[in-house]
Amino acid sequence: MSKVIVITGASAGIGKTVAKKLAARGDYLMLAARRYQELRQVTRECGRDSFSLTTDMTRKQDVERLREEAIRTFDHVDVWINNAGRGITKSVMELTEKDVDEMMTANLKSVLFGMQAIVPHFVERKQGHIINVSSGLARLPMATSRSAYSAAKSAMNTLTANLRMDLHREFPDIHVSLVIPGPVDTEFAENALYSTGPLGIAQNVQTAEEVADTIIEMIDHPCAEMYTNPTIQKPALMDYLNDIDGFETKLLKN
Ligand SMILES: NC(=O)c1ccc[n+]([C@@H]2O[C@H](COP(=O)([O-])OP(=O)(O)OC[C@H]3O[C@@H](n4cnc5c(N)ncnc54)[C@H](OP(=O)(O)O)[C@@H]3O)[C@@H](O)[C@H]2O)c1
Repeated sequence: MSKVIVITGASAGIGKTVAKKLAARGDYLMLAARRYQELRQVTRECGRDSFSLTTDMTRKQDVERLREEAIRTFDHVDVWINNAGRGITKSVMELTEKDVDEMMTANLKSVLFGMQAIVPHFVERKQGHIINVSSGLARLPMATSRSAYSAAKSAMNTLTANLRMDLHREFPDIHVSLVIPGPVDTEFAENALYSTGPLGIAQNVQTAEEVADTIIEMIDHPCAEMYTNPTIQKPALMDYLNDIDGFETKLLKN
């Protein structure tokens, strides 16, 4: 059955690809991002059941307006995908306070605002699904120049798990999920703060289509977490935690 789905960060990359795939199967979409022209173009490509609102996810009022607009347009929301995010290219010792604030705002507060905006609606309906897009870097220090981004995504993972625990007993039909991609071929690296272009060290890079397929599988079969890339899942869940020194030494040799 068709669902009403809000997608943040829908003007490009993974968000745009998820939007086009969901539109093709008949879902109703409310798309959000900051760039008006790009967002409008994606909305047009998605067809007549798709709408959009220019939204900066780091502004709480914008996020609340997005929820209101989605409910006004479609009467309700079934799924809210917090996909908007931004990287950085600075190692720990180079980070300024402003850099850290910016990463936390772009990757943690944006998701917090999204969850806080939509959960009361889901509670009222006793159902709904939040999907937060994280990163393998939240669990593995495989790209140290993404330090503050990785930290913000780790914090986001934690908020996601805590919200899931808070809701589960009373509202078992409200799902709170993480999707965890490894490297993906989008303009993410170019859009990172202090970008030096693509990092150039990534192996097992996925396409946005592959990641979008996992997000769609998550919509159809909600669960706590899904990795999009098996080459990240085993290192993140087993190898690293079993032997942190050994894992990091091996990384440094590569
Ligand atoms: N690409 C990767 O290697 C990779 C790996 C793991 C996880 N991820 C995660 O996947 C998600 C999507 O990234 P991507 O690869 O598709 O990157 P991307 O091509 O740079 O797209 C990022 C999207 O987020 C939007 N966005 C950024 N800041 C925003 C804000 N404050 N408010 C609203 N929208 C905002 C951008 O649109 P506007 O500029 O128009 O606002 C754009 O639509 C991110 O959360 C990222 O951390 C990416």
